[in-house]
Amino acid sequence: MNNDASISLKLEGGFVLNPILRSDKSAFLEHFSDPEISRNLLGMPRPCTGETVEEWLAHCVPESGSQTTMFAIRAPGGDLIGAIGIDGELASGAACAEFGYWLVPSHRGQGIMPRAIHGFADHIFQHFNIQRLCALPFSTNVSSQRALEKAGFRRERSLRLHHPNPSLSQDAIVYARMREEARDQESETRGA
Ligand SMILES: CC(C)(COP(=O)(O)OP(=O)(O)OC[C@H]1O[C@@H](n2cnc3c(N)ncnc32)[C@H](O)[C@@H]1OP(=O)(O)O)[C@@H](O)C(=O)NCCC(=O)NCCS
Repeated sequence: MNNDASISLKLEGGFVLNPILRSDKSAFLEHFSDPEISRNLLGMPRPCTGETVEEWLAHCVPESGSQTTMFAIRAPGGDLIGAIGIDGELASGAACAEFGYWLVPSHRGQGIMPRAIHGFADHIFQHFNIQRLCALPFSTNVSSQRALEKAGFRRERSLRLHHPNPSLSQDAIVYARMREEARDQESETRGA
């Protein structure tokens, strides 16, 4: 098992997934003010204030010796350009988990998130006994659906008006990747 305080998952192009830091607060406040992020990311702190972002950060920053399921996405120069992680706390022994993710506008449309999702999913399947990872983009969020498809996730079904908060509720699409599929993709890559 890793001590995730120093973990760094390398993505093509020099991007990395590594731990979220308390010093990322001001960058995250800026991210959450982007309308696309606040419209599509149900897991962000609401209302979004310095205080709620700090509370949210307290759950995201890995404690020493613990394994993290929430990662910062950093550009080659170290700038925080997004994040990816499991929503809420992962229950011990959980068989499935839902995750969320976002990128700042300047880095969209360059294929960064499909690589981040792929690397993140491989890591979770390797280090946790999760059988199924899923994400639930809104039916209107075609960019997110494309990113999941490119990362090897399969579209399963749609969920009508899927959110308890009526002001955020919209149709969502379930995308999932199973542990076996991760293994199959790995052996296909090795065999190629
Ligand atoms: C959804 C998101 C993570 C996609 O990440 P990405 O790295 O831009 O993904 P890709 O580069 O693979 O692009 C995916 C699709 O986005 C669309 N796209 C292309 N350029 C784009 C841009 N500048 N801005 C937004 N979407 C763009 C295209 O449909 C593309 O699909 P294609 O490659 O088949 O043409 C990113 O747009 C984002 O952070 N959006 C706001 C937050 C959000 O929606 N989070 C997901 C919640 S479920």
